[in-house]
Amino acid sequence: MESPDREQVLQIREASAADLSRIMMINRLCLPENYTYFFFDSILRSYPKTFLVAEVNGEVAGYVMCRIEHGLSKLNKLSVKKLGHVISIAVLPEYRRRGIATKLLNKAMRILKEEYSCGEVYLEVRVSNNPAIHLYQKLGFKIVKVSKRYYVDGEDAYVMARSL
Ligand code: ACO
Ligand code: ZN
Repeated sequence: MESPDREQVLQIREASAADLSRIMMINRLCLPENYTYFFFDSILRSYPKTFLVAEVNGEVAGYVMCRIEHGLSKLNKLSVKKLGHVISIAVLPEYRRRGIATKLLNKAMRILKEEYSCGEVYLEVRVSNNPAIHLYQKLGFKIVKVSKRYYVDGEDAYVMARSL
């Protein structure tokens, strides 16, 4: 029998300015791509509806942040679209493989479509990042391009996209 104190309550909600220091801690722990407080704060101010955190029993365990761009479709190069760009997503190691990133991305994609009118979502991911590539494939993203030496250490990125 599960003891009641082990029950986990998961909530996906919009991030607030008060969450930014913990989000920056999670970002540094999980990814080599780190950003300034100013950058996180400006994304939060500009696109608050798709800057989401996952809270497990009141503790922020992961985040996703997105930006809206106008540009050429990654899936059909002949059309110009409003694109949702997933800038960064991470879940603390002890909370992984429970569907948290899936929930963060599904909610972000729904809001990109319904509130920000994006027709497409895309992101970059290291070609060696199998967990993330699997996650995105499971959610219907396709690899549309390899960006050579995209990262500062020289690694290539896959650009992955799907329509909304
Ligand atoms: N190996 C293989 N497949 C995996 C793995 C893994 N380690 N982790 C997740 N997946 C795939 C699986 O298909 C999984 O489904 P399953 O558990 O039913 O098999 C599916 O992704 C969904 O997994 P979730 O539980 O929703 O993902 P999780 O909450 O564990 O978070 C994440 C995945 C965000 C990639 C996490 O591992 C992480 O924070 N990694 C470090 C940071 C990172 O790489 N972020 C992405 C960088 S790219 C960018 O930000 C745009
Ligand atoms: Zn990017």
